[in-house]
Amino acid sequence: MSYALELHGIVKRFPGVLANDHIDLAVEPGEIRALVGENGAGKTTLMRILYGLHQPDAGEVYIHGQKQTFHSPHDAIRAGLGMVHQHFMLFPSLSVGENVIYGAEPTRAGFVDRRMARQKVAEIAQQYGLQVDPTARVEQLPVGIRQRVEILKTLYRQAEILILDEPTAVLTPQERDSLFKILRGLAAQGKTIIFITHKLHEVMSLSDKATVLRAGRVTANLRTAETSREEISRYMVGREVMLVVNKPPAQVGEVVLAVENLVVEDETGRARVADLSLQVRTGEIVGLAGVAGNGQTELIQAITGLGPITSGRITLEEQDVSHVSVAGRRKAGQAYIPEDRTHVGLAAAASVADNLLMGFQREAAFSRHGLLSLKGIREHASRLIQRYAIKVAAPSEPAANLSGGNLQKVVVAREFSHQGRLLIAEQPTRGVDVGSIEFIHQRLLNYRSEGNAILLVSAELSEIMSLADRILVMFEGRIVGELNAAEASEAKLGLLMAGGSEKIRD
Ligand SMILES: Nc1ncnc2c1ncn2[C@@H]1O[C@H](COP(=O)(O)OP(=O)(O)OP(=O)(O)O)[C@@H](O)[C@H]1O
Ligand SMILES: [Mg+2]
Repeated sequence: MSYALELHGIVKRFPGVLANDHIDLAVEPGEIRALVGENGAGKTTLMRILYGLHQPDAGEVYIHGQKQTFHSPHDAIRAGLGMVHQHFMLFPSLSVGENVIYGAEPTRAGFVDRRMARQKVAEIAQQYGLQVDPTARVEQLPVGIRQRVEILKTLYRQAEILILDEPTAVLTPQERDSLFKILRGLAAQGKTIIFITHKLHEVMSLSDKATVLRAGRVTANLRTAETSREEISRYMVGREVMLVVNKPPAQVGEVVLAVENLVVEDETGRARVADLSLQVRTGEIVGLAGVAGNGQTELIQAITGLGPITSGRITLEEQDVSHVSVAGRRKAGQAYIPEDRTHVGLAAAASVADNLLMGFQREAAFSRHGLLSLKGIREHASRLIQRYAIKVAAPSEPAANLSGGNLQKVVVAREFSHQGRLLIAEQPTRGVDVGSIEFIHQRLLNYRSEGNAILLVSAELSEIMSLADRILVMFEGRIVGELNAAEASEAKLGLLMAGGSEKIRD
């Protein structure tokens, strides 16, 4: 029987890194294949080669038994491939339909045939169960629906093989469930799917087979039905990974962060944060749960100083910081791991060493008489690179060359190295591999034991439930419930997140 896709002996080198080291991969038509591996293992590189975005240094690509050489994604698309990137490539101000047909518009007598385009988009959406309104403007759509538009785009170009690079990283649990339903439907209709993920429960629930990469090589091809999360992570990391968190009881002390009667209105005057109060004390991790769009972003922006407040008060270590700049708040003891690492957390063009320093450049170890000490900076960078196992050829390399998960580790390493007493962590383990999740979780717990305060925002309920001491649920700009970690369950949290009931404190 012929494979939908075969890769033979793929090799790809970057300066100082062997990203793909003779990789073989064979996927059957209608199969769902998971591609997993540590940060920097070479997953994205391999998929970019398959999609014509990189040229391999050696190796061959076969699609439906035919040898192919892709010079660009254009060639790959013609051979029946489609890729859904993690950072969507849509035009926000155009409609869904316009985005889908962009660059492949049906024409009649030299004019774009809009009616035909609309009809075709609707047909495909119907056939594959992708519910979207073709007239909606992309900028008004939630992330999950935008992703559907990306999938629709590939299907419109008649993709037979779909590649998805960490498609669930930005989705809510509900959005993820509907994506999986769509992908299962596509596979049932004969499409071949390859998806990259760090979440092993997703591998277990969605894939037929899993391919594990480690340091640029394939370490295992496993049938999902015959394997386990433990076995997969062993092949990924080369050792046992603790998939559960052991948490010592909290030793709660004085208040570090206090938010009192905070109101944040948007430009239309609507309250995104409505008279909200909360406290985070030393020695505790407070989790903030909620469906995206219920004011969490505005709340965190107000606390960190990145966004304005309408009224209310924010105190950090007894200092009123309501109107203090971000730099001022950092000085007062605030560290922040932002959700949007590419825009808020990092400067892509700057070196890894500079990124590890950002925000601390005025500290004594790094500056003397206003000049930066290069030695101090290099040492600081090397220390963190080693400690956090950041995969980078040299500290001077631009951050842009790092893999997704290694970028996240740069931000996490920098913020933990800050001597503040308050850490605001938004999605701290998004995109990082299981071994590093274990490490970051341990760091969070140590930070708490050292008598610091943590406000944790995560879309992963399991992460919040295993780390937080108290969980606050946000709905429509308010805290609608508070649960102790011990009494929280996904069901209870889910109910509160949906605006279920006021204060069920049982
Ligand atoms: N354009 C580039 N220039 C230099 N090095 C690169 C480039 N792209 C990737 N690399 C390096 O190649 C290696 C593999 O990166 P890749 O992005 O494929 O990893 P990944 O498995 O997708 O990791 P993650 O899970 O973190 O996304 C990394 O060491 C990375 O730093
Ligand atoms: Mg990647």
